[in-house]
Amino acid sequence: MTYKGFGQPLGQVLADAAARLAAAGVPTPMVDAELLAAHVLGVSRGRLTMLQLMGESFGAEHGPEFERLIAARVTRLPLQHLTGIAHFRYLDLAVGPGVFVPRPETETVVQLALDFAAPLQRPLMVDLGTGSGAIAGSLAHENTTARVYAVELSDDAYPYSRKNLEPLGVTLVHGDMREAFGELNGSCDVVVSNPPYIPANAVPREPEAREHDPHMALYGGGADGMIMPRAAEATAARLLRPGGFFVMEHAEVQAAQMRKMFQESGAWENITTNLDLTGRDRSTSAIRRG
Ligand SMILES: C[S@@+](CC[C@H](N)C(=O)[O-])C[C@H]1O[C@@H](n2cnc3c(N)ncnc32)[C@H](O)[C@@H]1O
Repeated sequence: MTYKGFGQPLGQVLADAAARLAAAGVPTPMVDAELLAAHVLGVSRGRLTMLQLMGESFGAEHGPEFERLIAARVTRLPLQHLTGIAHFRYLDLAVGPGVFVPRPETETVVQLALDFAAPLQRPLMVDLGTGSGAIAGSLAHENTTARVYAVELSDDAYPYSRKNLEPLGVTLVHGDMREAFGELNGSCDVVVSNPPYIPANAVPREPEAREHDPHMALYGGGADGMIMPRAAEATAARLLRPGGFFVMEHAEVQAAQMRKMFQESGAWENITTNLDLTGRDRSTSAIRRG
């Protein structure tokens, strides 16, 4: 690849890059080209659009770095690993190899937890399997009175959890959700989890997830992927006070299994399947029985 295209109008450089990403099967080629260009130029995406409308050129000095990133994205390295940042609700989270890239559907799960906690005084909130800290960080950022705790088991993910959550005042534990926070048993107001839940044979189609999200973050264990969701449910039942709220993300096809699991445990009432913004059954919530 030569860099002769740089120094040409920004719109042309972006169109060429987007065409290469489209040919590689990247689902949102122009968005990705724009985000990578904005990253290289050190401007926001809005500012990039403005520069494009003004007919600005893509500075030749930025060419090699932009080319490196586009070539990497063509191999389906996740966009967020290339920029080092994942946007989630109001947060810009540090991410990279070894940590799960947070997804938009989880933003809806966070909203359910925030809504429940809104009328409470200094609510005690826990995130099980925090990864980048997307859930715990958002709870702490958006409910400034909340006392937020989070746990992460993976040695590779934990440094990202710490980097993202320390500035937000979240109490973070490096360990297994099944044993974590014994000191909080029966006293929490809200427990949230986006545990690993994918069944063993449901390997993700998109290479970004299949090859770059950690296996410990994806696969729930067992043929039905339910071992870790069961562990999260049992941990939430242990931690919550009577009347406390638990919400857990899952795959659309697992909604009935989740309801059954909540019913059979005997710990829950008001068991509800919740939709994400695209209308899919993507989380189950319930209230801890007294
Ligand atoms: C699907 S990812 C979710 C990460 C983050 N909460 C989010 O929504 O983006 C599941 C996370 O749970 C962690 N995990 C898996 N098993 C765990 C366990 N037994 N205890 C604590 N964390 C665990 C994984 O390492 C991963 O970071």
